Amino acid sequence: MKNKKKLYIETYGCQMNFSDSEIVTSIMLENNYEVTNDISGADVIFVNTCSIRDNAEQRVKGRLREFYTHKKRKPNLIIGVLGCMAERLKSRLLEEEKLVDLIVGPDSYRDLPKLMQTVIGGSRAINILLSTEETYADIKPVRIGTKGVSAFISIMRGCENFCSYCVVPYTRGKERSRNPETIIEEAHNLFEKGYREITLLGQNVNSYHWNENGWYFAKLLEKVATINPKLRLRFATSHPKDISDELLYTIAKYDNICKSIHLPVQSGSDRILKLMNRKYTRDWYLNRVNAIKKIIPECTISTDIISGFCSETESDHNDTLSLMEIVGYQYAFMFKYSERPNTIAAKKLKDDVPDKVKITRLQEIIVLQQKLSLKSNKNDVGKTFEVLIEGESKRSENHLSGRNSQNKIVVFPKENKKTGEYANVQIHKCTSATLLGEIVQNNE
Ligand code: 5AD
Ligand code: SF4
Repeated sequence: MKNKKKLYIETYGCQMNFSDSEIVTSIMLENNYEVTNDISGADVIFVNTCSIRDNAEQRVKGRLREFYTHKKRKPNLIIGVLGCMAERLKSRLLEEEKLVDLIVGPDSYRDLPKLMQTVIGGSRAINILLSTEETYADIKPVRIGTKGVSAFISIMRGCENFCSYCVVPYTRGKERSRNPETIIEEAHNLFEKGYREITLLGQNVNSYHWNENGWYFAKLLEKVATINPKLRLRFATSHPKDISDELLYTIAKYDNICKSIHLPVQSGSDRILKLMNRKYTRDWYLNRVNAIKKIIPECTISTDIISGFCSETESDHNDTLSLMEIVGYQYAFMFKYSERPNTIAAKKLKDDVPDKVKITRLQEIIVLQQKLSLKSNKNDVGKTFEVLIEGESKRSENHLSGRNSQNKIVVFPKENKKTGEYANVQIHKCTSATLLGEIVQNNE
């Protein structure tokens, strides 16, 4: 066996990208590479990229310039750009970033060994073909950066919703679902290895389907939930247009399906939702929220919001604020609109809200969300939750940190508990970001 070469991989963007990096790592390990966390010792640097907003791309471009210092020192170092930026910029990246040797889009990772040979042979290499079938179903991801408690399983790829602002349908291609047998097997294996939480991933998990035996998302979720009651399940992301009552009843039925739903709203204004091509109205969204509150009363709801989309007025913005109050989100990912080249919005609408206004509105959204998070957390003081322990608290080695079913971070004194175990914790105090409490009884 030859000496193994060292791969350093850096990942930006969504959970899907982190999951893809685990697939890439698996493919590279099969081809005589090993992973290193020390960039200066690496033979290959991969950066798995995100195109969703311009600042995400600028960050990666900055990083590529930093990699240059390593390449100057070690001319044989191979630098590869993977993921959405590879797909969006294609060979232009080779022209713009002279130091990049390899460009690989999200559906071409199986081709990596061949592409690496080309690069080692002295040429640059690119594969950005999108597929209608690739799900990497048979590749066992190598879990990186985990503490052996939580893992992602990707259940579908791509998106065909074409929200007008979004670059994802162009960078990740058509929607396709993964064979359910391989998903269930992967979940089983993770549980056997000691993992206690799985997040099923897809751009729009509610449209998961597999024709043979009529699989759809609620059925898949139920099947994975029955592997073991001590295996927690989460999923992301749901599109509000197709979150069904049946799915909500499935979540309610199993204690180990976590009671938190991420339901990106983007805007509270009907006019803006239409321009965004979101395919639902404010009323429809609130109806779904009411269904969640009725069927799963203890469920928290989180969201994504974009401020300053094309033509957004103060009144549209106020609709977003009022909707946030009505729903009472537990947390939100909040962004200002960033026009992405070649999207429907870039082609048909004017990015006409001044940056200053976008920032002011975003700030108002953030301040309101902090208030709502604090209110939601205060409501939990005095309650007891089962917490899955993820590790030591960042602030104190005498404390542990984990999450409850509602996806809230809970911090408490260690006692005799360890990472990967469950603890029943009674909440005494809170901030807008964290619940603080103490173990009340051992349950393991
Ligand atoms: N500008 C700002 N935010 C965006 N998102 C997607 N595209 C854009 C864009 N062009 C946000 C949406 C989405 C989240 C993943 O990123 O809120 O839900
Ligand atoms: Fe983008 Fe909309 Fe698809 Fe989400 S659902 S990835 S926002 S196009």
